[in-house]
Amino acid sequence: MSLIEPDYRFLRACHRLAVDVTPVWFMRQAGRYLPEYRAIREKHTLLEIVANPELACEVTLQPVYRLGVDAAILFADILLPVIPMGLKLEFAKGEGPVIRNPVRTAEDIVHLRPLQSETDLGQVLDTIRLVRQELNGKTPLIGFAGAPFTVASYIIEGGASRDFRLTKSLMYAEPQAWHALMKKLAAALADYLLAQVRAGAQGVQLFDSWVGVLSPQDYTRYVLPYSQSVLKVVEAAQVPVIHFGTGTTGLLGLMKQAGGTVIGLDWRIPLDQGKAILGDEVAIQGNLDPVALFAPLPVLREQVRDVLQRAGGLPGHIFNLGHGILPETPVENVRAVVEIVHEYSNNHFDA
Ligand code: CP3
Repeated sequence: MSLIEPDYRFLRACHRLAVDVTPVWFMRQAGRYLPEYRAIREKHTLLEIVANPELACEVTLQPVYRLGVDAAILFADILLPVIPMGLKLEFAKGEGPVIRNPVRTAEDIVHLRPLQSETDLGQVLDTIRLVRQELNGKTPLIGFAGAPFTVASYIIEGGASRDFRLTKSLMYAEPQAWHALMKKLAAALADYLLAQVRAGAQGVQLFDSWVGVLSPQDYTRYVLPYSQSVLKVVEAAQVPVIHFGTGTTGLLGLMKQAGGTVIGLDWRIPLDQGKAILGDEVAIQGNLDPVALFAPLPVLREQVRDVLQRAGGLPGHIFNLGHGILPETPVENVRAVVEIVHEYSNNHFDA
């Protein structure tokens, strides 16, 4: 197991320790907005890249070199674990992820194979080892997994969804089947995150990207215990865990209850208001609107400063977007944000 390595500003901020400047990284910092990523994608599919540790390592490092961010995030996808569990995953052009044999019945759930990450996802773990070696202590590496609810929604719907009708229908009509599915996913995702930590991930993020579609009552009953079980297992491994979702303004207190060293905020709540709900026992990550990266520089600068001012220079803030970078984002604006965050926090906040 990795020890806590508090000398990186990212890890120090996770543990709410003082930092020289506010650490910054971006969700989806590797990807199509980078020309060097598109060059690799011209020759390889997404699934080919993640199955090839050398390529996946290269793509993981591209934004670290290009942007000067304070953390690397493993290049993988939240849906990779469902392939060895028996699902046929494709990334269709323009459609996002598609599952050809979605999970719809209690019978389908029984047939999901338990995940054995060390063997089933060995290439991802090899990528982690390679990235650690390449980074050589310069920048910490974040591993990640999808949270049980968000992964369940993809495998039930068979892809992206607007209303999550099939997911919620299973939840309401067949609660036993729902709980069985969530239990299997929680076990698989905890196993996967622990394997990432053993391979060298120095922090992990649990992506519950679509959890904001749930009422607090349904979150409590159908989701919280499973996110909690994943988060507990990983926190016991002594690495910081970022618990992230979007549309979560009404769920923040419950997400904190579920767990996480750090809670991710989207941009729909001002950071100081999110912080007031979450209290002082957790760090906060966020929360610039990803579309602010398309604004003219003075407007972008103003929005970055607003986030930093609301964080107030107190320990326990990691600057990030409220959700992932969009593919059309101008690279120079992403770089500018890193500079503004470092420069502003250096000049306005005491270490
Ligand atoms: O730097 C990074 O963060 C890259 C690693 C990464 C990917 N996916 C690679 C990827 C991470 C952390 C993810 C997480 C992920 N995947 C989430 C949670 C984050 C979020 O945005 O909410 C979700 C919901 C997915 C599922 C997924 N994978 C979708 C919806 C899509 C298609 C939409 C899109 O953004 O293109 C993918 C494909 C995918 N995963 C791409 C990348 C770089 C784009 C594929 C391509 O290169 O063609």
